[in-house]
Amino acid sequence: YFQIQVFKKPCGNEEVGGRSLLKEDIAKAGRVTKLVNGCRDVLVLYHQGQLHAMDMRCYHSGGALQYGDIEEFNGRACIVCPWHKYKITLAEGEGLYQAVDDPTARPLRTHWRSKGVKQRIHKVTEVNGDVYVTLNNSSEAIESDVYQTEKYRAVLLPA
Ligand code: FES
Repeated sequence: YFQIQVFKKPCGNEEVGGRSLLKEDIAKAGRVTKLVNGCRDVLVLYHQGQLHAMDMRCYHSGGALQYGDIEEFNGRACIVCPWHKYKITLAEGEGLYQAVDDPTARPLRTHWRSKGVKQRIHKVTEVNGDVYVTLNNSSEAIESDVYQTEKYRAVLLPA
């Protein structure tokens, strides 16, 4: 089985917490959510054999990313927020958008651009079948941090 454990978190408490999960559960669902010791909601995704972890609520308006589809844009796997369809890369947390260089040109020509890192990505490590999530505690503010407060947790509980 996979074990989701958190051994470091950005809110200062180093307490170890977690729960064991069956690998089949993750593979079937493709994702799990975890409230980490009452301080951070994380979404763990299993996609094409790889694990990814990110803040659970979308950087745009706090949308529930655990209900989003995973699609590729410009060759990059993204979660598509179910609320307003923002696209977030699984590996880096970058917001992607389609840019138009010349709005007067016909037909319009678009290409994918990055807004930079908008969603906080966390590290996932697998050791002997156990999966560990190390929270990214960089002090640099990332937009998705806004939705990791008690206020939003009360509104949008993890599954
Ligand atoms: Fe995610 Fe708006 S809340 S796109």
